[in-house]
Amino acid sequence: MTQSVFVLNGPNLNLLGTREPAVYGSQTLADVEQICAAACQRHGLELVFRQSNHEGELVDWIHEAGRLHAEGKLRGLVLNAAAYTHTSVALLDAVKGTGVPMIELHISNVHAREAFRHHSYLSAAAKAVMCGFGVAGYGLAIDAMAGWKA
Ligand code: DQA
Repeated sequence: MTQSVFVLNGPNLNLLGTREPAVYGSQTLADVEQICAAACQRHGLELVFRQSNHEGELVDWIHEAGRLHAEGKLRGLVLNAAAYTHTSVALLDAVKGTGVPMIELHISNVHAREAFRHHSYLSAAAKAVMCGFGVAGYGLAIDAMAGWKA
């Protein structure tokens, strides 16, 4: 059975391309989706790629990913929760509550930025954390996930 990979993006990531290009680069979210699609294709995985500016919608999607994982239909979740990384107990609880294997991802190196970006509520529930690779990180995360047990 072909497994899928969920890539979920949080608030303001729809603005990629024009949003603080010195920090996030000039590639758009559509470009990021292409990077993810190419990585999934390399590994015979199906891509589900979404973005929301709403915390509850992200919670619902993590639950959906969790259900698929329980059925053996999902390899894992790449989660760039954006600003919710630094604020959201709800997203932490969603990942913990579903047990979905998750890679926490940030385009920028959050540790080289403002102090409020140094803490992540999500890292405690992540299998792996990656930041600072730019949008290429998404492809690297999927490459890593492809090596996980199906
Ligand atoms: C981000 C880093 C967060 O601190 C920020 O709020 C974002 C994007 C990143 O991808 O580098 O919106 O998650």
